[in-house]
Amino acid sequence: MAYYFDTPSRTFSEYLLVPGYSSADCIPANVSLETPLVKFKKGEEPELKMNIPLVSAVMQAVSDDKMAVALSKEGGVSFIFGSQTIENQAAMVARVKAHKAGFVVSDSNLTPEHTLNDILDLKEKTGHSTVAITDNGTATGKLLGIVASRDYRVSRMDGSEKVKTFMTPIEKIVSAPKDVTLKEANNIIWDNKLNSLPVLDEKGNLVHMVFRKDYDSHKQNPLELHDKLKRYVVGAGINTRDYEERIPALIEAGVDVLCIDSSEGYSEWQAKTIKWVRDTYGETVKIGAGNVVDREGFRFLAQAGADFIKIGIGGGSICITREQKGIGRGQATSVIDVAKARDEYFEETGVYIPICSDGGIVYDHHITLALAMGSDFVMLGRYFSRFDESPTNKVNINGSYMKEYWGEGSARARNWQRYDLGGDKKLSFEEGVDSYVPYAGSLKDNVNMTLAKVRSTMCNCGALTIPELQEKAKLTVVSSTSIVEGGAHDVLLKDNRNL
Ligand code: IMP
Repeated sequence: MAYYFDTPSRTFSEYLLVPGYSSADCIPANVSLETPLVKFKKGEEPELKMNIPLVSAVMQAVSDDKMAVALSKEGGVSFIFGSQTIENQAAMVARVKAHKAGFVVSDSNLTPEHTLNDILDLKEKTGHSTVAITDNGTATGKLLGIVASRDYRVSRMDGSEKVKTFMTPIEKIVSAPKDVTLKEANNIIWDNKLNSLPVLDEKGNLVHMVFRKDYDSHKQNPLELHDKLKRYVVGAGINTRDYEERIPALIEAGVDVLCIDSSEGYSEWQAKTIKWVRDTYGETVKIGAGNVVDREGFRFLAQAGADFIKIGIGGGSICITREQKGIGRGQATSVIDVAKARDEYFEETGVYIPICSDGGIVYDHHITLALAMGSDFVMLGRYFSRFDESPTNKVNINGSYMKEYWGEGSARARNWQRYDLGGDKKLSFEEGVDSYVPYAGSLKDNVNMTLAKVRSTMCNCGALTIPELQEKAKLTVVSSTSIVEGGAHDVLLKDNRNL
């Protein structure tokens, strides 16, 4: 006879934290959000830790090299999407590792033959006002000029006017050679009162841009996550098909941690993939696995040797797996169950395997709930897709700015490997949708605000660290009536609040 779970499966919105005693030193400034990323033995330190408990989802619409740099600056890790060619994915990883703080690859580039309208379109898409003008319109072409806002007046010029007529030409541009240090670049910027400084190779090809605002912000990232060589930390998603080719390329590019990206991780394919990694690299290569939603799934991947285990089926914002296939489990119940299994495994073996709640974070407080329920960190897709740094287009829909966001199981992403059960190499039906999410600005501002809330709630629970929160948290299920009471109610709102 089929097995029936005793209790219904619940989501985060059905829970609240009940405050505990907070001492006078329990203030947000004293909270540490440090958390392990990979497994470790009792009494030892994990080889990889994060300074904040956030990772960005293995998705085309979320995690590329730009997102990875922005998140590592704040102390978290991005898993660069694997639903692209091995070469492209490895190149993204390599760009993160080559990224010198303050030196950026120009993301706004055109040729002298483009027009003012092209400049304005690009500015709308990227949100950046400095455009490099190169011979081939790429970030590495020969630099011929720069267009900044001061170079044109929309009200006085025709949109069809060619860039070459109003750009600041190369002869008038102060540039720096490619071996310039950030300190030297910054001095040049200040001495010449510049907003941006192009860095060129000996042939005059553009290598990087240094922006005055980036140099200033670099000094404001106390939680930046570095490897031993002071490079940003980056992860990458892999699948259970082409790992024998993909993993060596990612390692060569400098990846710090891998994650098998699959909608359902309790499978022989994942065990085989982890075994191949262990046989080939021993414990030196770190690999997470998932997704699972119960004790059995956790134990299977733990025994297979996973370095961390991801939880969640069907809770993602773009996910229609539950609708399409009728599989899944409420995210809160899944986390609680897997956290128990993780603690039990730790008792038995002395090995602590971090767990990650993946998908379904709607409000910032869901992050705190996931941590309190035992998650060591959380993976978010929709959350990060709304920021400037996500790889997707910013579009104006009926007067509001939106970013595009689509699931890996949508026809748009065509990531058949994620849903692969060893059958045909194609996506037979969709498990995700293509959508818009409200544009929300910079990653830094949003992450800072979100984590301010997390720290504050932790203090209400009398906890200064994540393990302390997990030990002290008191959680209650709320009734459907009290959920209504949780938001503003019985008042007429004057404007939309930004939650
Ligand atoms: P979100 O943070 O709620 O948007 O959920 C993101 C998570 O949804 C990802 O990390 C994946 O685990 C999952 N996911 C991504 N694409 C799809 C899809 O197309 N169908 C189902 N789940 C998906």
